[in-house]
Amino acid sequence: MKFSGTMKNVDGVLEIGGVSVTDLKNEFGTPLYIYDLEGMEKKIRDLKSGFTSKKFKTNIVYASKAYLSKGMAQFIEKFGLHIDAVSGGELETIFSADFQRDKIHMHGNNKSLDEIEMCVENSIGSIILDNRDEIDRVGEVCKKFKKNMDVMLRLNIGIDAHTHEYIKTAKHNSKFGESIFDTEIDEIVKKIINREELNFLGFHCHIGSQIFDEMAFCEGVYTMVKFTKEMSQKFNIEIPDINIGGGFGVRYTEEDTDVDLKKLMKKIIDCIENTLEEEEFNIQNVWIEPGRSIVAAAGSTLYTVGGEKKTFGGEKYIFIDGGMTDNIRTALYSAKYESVVANKLNETKKEVVSLAGKCCESGDVIIKNARLAKCSLNDLILVSCTGAYGHSMSSNYNKALKPAVVFVKDKKSYLISRRETYQDLLSTELDFLLEVE
Ligand SMILES: Cc1ncc(COP(=O)(O)O)c(C=O)c1O
Repeated sequence: MKFSGTMKNVDGVLEIGGVSVTDLKNEFGTPLYIYDLEGMEKKIRDLKSGFTSKKFKTNIVYASKAYLSKGMAQFIEKFGLHIDAVSGGELETIFSADFQRDKIHMHGNNKSLDEIEMCVENSIGSIILDNRDEIDRVGEVCKKFKKNMDVMLRLNIGIDAHTHEYIKTAKHNSKFGESIFDTEIDEIVKKIINREELNFLGFHCHIGSQIFDEMAFCEGVYTMVKFTKEMSQKFNIEIPDINIGGGFGVRYTEEDTDVDLKKLMKKIIDCIENTLEEEEFNIQNVWIEPGRSIVAAAGSTLYTVGGEKKTFGGEKYIFIDGGMTDNIRTALYSAKYESVVANKLNETKKEVVSLAGKCCESGDVIIKNARLAKCSLNDLILVSCTGAYGHSMSSNYNKALKPAVVFVKDKKSYLISRRETYQDLLSTELDFLLEVE
């Protein structure tokens, strides 16, 4: 496993943020999500220093779906970043952190009336309209609350970025956004512009996730600028903003490239500036929405070994005390990870094993064919790069308790979310008292 951030081998035991994993296990138990604060800070600094321009203002929105908690929202706000949400639950978590309301932006392809009302009532920064039906829906809520709302329109620009099929979002049949090729696209734009309660800022796109191909982003920028210019001329209005989404790739295993975020940002800025120059067009604000690239590598999951099994078929399993309930990505998109026996870093003898969780599902395997030091009962396994879409996609399948989350830095640990209890699980349950004949 490649060490990242502040990970260190101290006498064979892994330390993150100066705290040993054995101490973390003793204090918080396992499974445990560990976030290296320095790791996240570095990513934010790289994004901020690379994504700047003298030609337009740049804004970074943290895509909170990658990982969100009250503490994370508070951490993000300290860096002056904006934040997005796609549900009432995400909004409520962000509100609980007392996040500056005008730096919150709402996404979603099927926003409920309640969710739209939460946005308008709280005067959040903007709503990204996903489709034509939302124009009047948001307009009417604004009317009810006698407020205006800044809006963007999410576009499907038809870019086919090289990534996993399930996380491509801008192909022609995607459920997200309105297609720039739709025959009614002009009418949709006109309808937004004419809706008095809506201040139209511009267009948004997100071409997919875990993208390593710089050219895909440049192609996206080119299409967005050209389309914005066309609409601006057609309706004779100024369109001040463009949002090009997130999706910047992250190294999970040696099969992936190690992305230099600062360099990638500079490349994207170059593409935008060059395209604007070629098109003789101006934009005031350019937005990006990184999620994974901020949190993935800074996060790891710590498990305790509960047993092993050598199958008749020859495969050897190591049983860990978590699994698909805290990390669904392997089962969902065959995601790949690296791992170590975190209390046996100096052990040279290795064996090939699969890390199996404790759920009632054959597919509950976090890593297939991991090369690990020989481990035994109560050893600690750390799976790296689980910071994005691990906690946020976790579930209570088999009534598993969701793990605690700790942030670590400078030899200190900060409990951000406590482990769920059986009382938490039962807190929504009601008696069924109907007599059965
Ligand atoms: C609209 C939008 N913006 C940003 C993101 C963040 O993507 P990533 O975490 O890959 O940076 C997503 C992820 O699906 C998204 O749908």
